[in-house]
Amino acid sequence: MSEFEPTIVAFFCNWCTYTAADLAGTSRLSYPHNIRIIRVMCTGMVDPQYIIKAFLEGADGVLVSGCRPGDCHYINGNYKARRRIKLLKEILPQFGFDQQRLRLTWIGASDGIHLAEIMRTFAGQIKALGPSQTKLKMVI
Ligand code: FES
Repeated sequence: MSEFEPTIVAFFCNWCTYTAADLAGTSRLSYPHNIRIIRVMCTGMVDPQYIIKAFLEGADGVLVSGCRPGDCHYINGNYKARRRIKLLKEILPQFGFDQQRLRLTWIGASDGIHLAEIMRTFAGQIKALGPSQTKLKMVI
């Protein structure tokens, strides 16, 4: 039997974290290949429905990352994202989702090294949790 490799969906803000991912790539830093990055203009546009849809369609983990508080290019988008994700983490367990599978971080454009660390750590945590039960239910 092959070793479990989680599928992780990452919503990265165009201005900070996506730029950091670009920097990590051009600096030849390695990060897990199984993280699918979706570029958004701001974490404030990550509708909770996108996160739920990612889980329902097979993601084992979802990572949302954007500009540090005070640095959002749309003034308060990251504060909105923080409130939404906090609420989502309270609601998700009631529907069988493990809240540890969802993470919000702030990673600045010049933090390529930090980004690679976060991605490796998160992928390791999701791998340790095992396959998402939601995905298993959909397969059965
Ligand atoms: S522009 Fe980056 S989080 Fe809003």
